[in-house]
Amino acid sequence: MKKGDIIELEIESYAFEGKGIARINKSELNHVSNSIDKKYVIFVPHAYPGDIVKAKILRLKKSYGEAKLEEIIKPAEGRIEPECRYFGVCGGCKQQDLDYTLQLKYKEEQVIDVFNRLGGFKNFDVEPILASEKIFFYRNKMEFSFSEKRWLTPDEIKSGENIDSYFALGLHIPRMFDKVLDIDECFLQSPESNKILNVTRDFFKTRKTPVYSTKTHTGYLRNLVIRNSAHTKDLMVNLVTSEEDDKLMREYSDTLKDKIPEITTIINNINLKKSQVAVGDYEKVYYGDGFIFDKIGKYRYRISANSFFQTNTLQAEKLYGVAAGFAEFSGNETVYDLYSGAGTITIFISEFVKKVYGFESVQSAVDDANINCKLNNISNTEFVLADLNKSFLPVIRDLQIEHPDVVIADPPRSGMNPKTVNDILKLSPSKIVYISCNPATQARDINLLAEGGYKLVKIKPVDMFPQTYHIENVALLIK
Ligand SMILES: C[S@@+](CC[C@H](N)C(=O)[O-])C[C@H]1O[C@@H](n2cnc3c(N)ncnc32)[C@H](O)[C@@H]1O
Repeated sequence: MKKGDIIELEIESYAFEGKGIARINKSELNHVSNSIDKKYVIFVPHAYPGDIVKAKILRLKKSYGEAKLEEIIKPAEGRIEPECRYFGVCGGCKQQDLDYTLQLKYKEEQVIDVFNRLGGFKNFDVEPILASEKIFFYRNKMEFSFSEKRWLTPDEIKSGENIDSYFALGLHIPRMFDKVLDIDECFLQSPESNKILNVTRDFFKTRKTPVYSTKTHTGYLRNLVIRNSAHTKDLMVNLVTSEEDDKLMREYSDTLKDKIPEITTIINNINLKKSQVAVGDYEKVYYGDGFIFDKIGKYRYRISANSFFQTNTLQAEKLYGVAAGFAEFSGNETVYDLYSGAGTITIFISEFVKKVYGFESVQSAVDDANINCKLNNISNTEFVLADLNKSFLPVIRDLQIEHPDVVIADPPRSGMNPKTVNDILKLSPSKIVYISCNPATQARDINLLAEGGYKLVKIKPVDMFPQTYHIENVALLIK
């Protein structure tokens, strides 16, 4: 067998990032391996356990191979027709072709596998995965990109139509940072969001407004960010541009208000930098207050265009409920909420404990957190600006903050810096609740905490991102 061969494979199991795993006999390979294992693993993205597929060999490494799905000969049970016509081309959803019950089953098995096999953990409880109530239209924020390089789908190419490929507003094609799929419908946010997307496209396309080019760094349009509230009717449109054009922005804003009266605020973020981030150096509000309000549990949160906020609002309440349930607070605890963002967990647990300190490195998130505490009349919280890639013990010492009884940590995908893990060990809380959107780095960090005297008691995956392979997991450790 060699690179480029198309072979038939039966998918046996599900791996990291939703890839299908097939196992073939090593005797079928040309290269010799010293391993006593007679089977060789081949990863096939977009294939599910039970599929029989034709796949093209892309890479044959010593311990595993990678192949591209060419044809499904016999589909696995649970494969379904995707809702979205862009499925398979768009980078937004990857598992719309899989029944939701199976999405959940594979996510749960994946977490268990990571903890057992990679983490080497035994004797801990696994609570069943918590499903998301909404499996479509669950996101409260979508970030669309403008591009002067429109990606044409195979159907569009086949149609022979003369399509203007110099303007696109939609989502990026996987692994192609400059190519955008022009979409007029997405099932992740809300029907209003689709209306905004289409009115925006028509408005700028008919005016031939130039799109910002990542090559020449000229052009005006960069991103369209839409945020909506799950609990109120607040709806924000944020146009990210490379410069100010007050007249055009006013016209755009009037058109939006006229065509979509549900919109409550319109903002222009001006990003002067070359980097393609949908965050401006400054912003101008064209309509409304410049922010929206949403709720998690009984608490209200003010969200501005660039605030971090959990994207699946309804499921965030459940996630925080699991974390608080794992901690089993008595009411007397001092808690550290590490990586506290806009203070949503800090505020959510404040009523169950004596005092909560949130630690976060982004100043605007700390500012939002303070505003949100005021908004909810909460006085037993405090936010500390701290970079958790460095030791934060000096900050605690300087501010003379009491040591925690419980630590809650919710780091980014990369997990915790070993320095933070060491700091937690030195602070010696009786419980640690670790929330993560990457079970692999979570298991790695929990191993370090285990070496320092903590026992992994239980985990519970929570599905925050239906139709994708992304997994959120909550773990409880006790000293
Ligand atoms: C997954 S979010 C969690 C936010 C919050 N707990 C929530 O539920 O909304 C991770 C947070 O970690 C923050 N962060 C990333 N790197 C950090 C660092 N080195 N030090 C402190 N905070 C950091 C990010 O700004 C972000 O707010």
